[in-house]
Amino acid sequence: MYQKVKGFRDIYGLEARYWNKVEKVFRQTFRTFNFEEFYLPILEKSEVFNRGIGSTTDIVEKEMFAFEDRDGTQVALRPEGTASLVRAYVENKLFSTPGISKYYYVGPMFRRERPQKGRFRQFTQAGIEVFGSGGPSIDADVIYLLYKLAENLGIQNFVSMEINSIGCPACRPAYNEKLIEYFKSNIEHLCGDCLRRLDKNPMRIMDCKNESCKKITADAPKAVDYLCGECRDHFDGVKSYLDALQVPYKVNPMMVRGLDYYVRTAFEMITDRLGSQSAVGAGGRYDGLIQLLGGPDTAGIGFAVGIDRLVSLCMLNETEKENDLDVFIISFRDISDKIALKLANEMRSQGVSVDMDYDFRKMKKQFSLADRYGSLFTVVLGEDEAAKGTAAVKDMQAGTQEEIEIAKVTEYITDKLRRN
Ligand code: HAM
Repeated sequence: MYQKVKGFRDIYGLEARYWNKVEKVFRQTFRTFNFEEFYLPILEKSEVFNRGIGSTTDIVEKEMFAFEDRDGTQVALRPEGTASLVRAYVENKLFSTPGISKYYYVGPMFRRERPQKGRFRQFTQAGIEVFGSGGPSIDADVIYLLYKLAENLGIQNFVSMEINSIGCPACRPAYNEKLIEYFKSNIEHLCGDCLRRLDKNPMRIMDCKNESCKKITADAPKAVDYLCGECRDHFDGVKSYLDALQVPYKVNPMMVRGLDYYVRTAFEMITDRLGSQSAVGAGGRYDGLIQLLGGPDTAGIGFAVGIDRLVSLCMLNETEKENDLDVFIISFRDISDKIALKLANEMRSQGVSVDMDYDFRKMKKQFSLADRYGSLFTVVLGEDEAAKGTAAVKDMQAGTQEEIEIAKVTEYITDKLRRN
């Protein structure tokens, strides 16, 4: 027997049903905000992420599935979608389209993290990116969209929104100085990774998961206290738009996010229902990224949600059934097998979900199959019925039964389903 690779998983049964529902709600919600789907490759040149996400981030330093292709190209399974989408935006010269561009993507991402509950090496994200708008109103609308996804999934009570501003290239250097000063005075508490990052990228220390580092970061200088005038105005703007939209949020001055491209607004939707993996969705503004990856100076903002984690939250609500089928047809070999096949496909073409027993076993066996599928109606095409050109249609919930002409069964069922 073969086993799957560590940190990878199979998704099926009830979880797959919730997964389906979550993706459907996402796509519908993204459309109402005028986002268009973007299909991105799963494999990119490693450089896209090294530069885009930052060479001193955990993702690039330790977590990428990166390897050399047979032709010597350094490639990586994408650990996230933002750098990929920016690469595509620049490569396809989509910046020449006037106005702002709004895209969404759904698909698997790969990070070689230590697997645990809610943390996998292959996980699925749904993300959105907006290119070309630098003002605070889009930040608020994007955060509102993240909140709206939770609301449309019926899990808004399981999550809360945290926001922060982490400054821009104008005010970040002064903040970094303060951080370096602070961490140098606590240097004995820093882990090896943080010691290495101290001079190059001190903000990364704020995101370190090491217990000893976490203790000192609690009292570290906060980016919000060192914002330049423009960043402060921007952050005030975001908050006032969020208030207007009545999005519940909290400012968390300790949040810095684990990717280097962020400037100004950063946000996370978190939960306390999934053990230590608290972030179900996160994002922020990344105004310099498009230029960094070879494009024009264009503003950008977006977020990604972890579908695996959102599905787990939805499953706490227990609304989906294991399986549900509209109709199960019971039929018998050489008596009603062909009628059954024809009728099944006639109903399917009307959007009704139908299944049957292709081995035409005994009636009892077929009824237990109908039960297992949770079918709402069972259509019995027995010997007597077949002779008369009728079917016995059983409403499994009401426990009632009616004899209907075969030619009228589809209409009868679609009518009943509409009324249900
Ligand atoms: P991120 O915070 O790295 O941001 O990931 C976003 C979400 O993906 C997390 O909140 C979490 O729900 C999910 N996620 C991340 N890693 C794992 C994992 N190992 N297992 C399960 N779920 C996971 C980004 O990726 C940015 N690209 C978001 C963004 C888009 N920022 C701007 N635009």
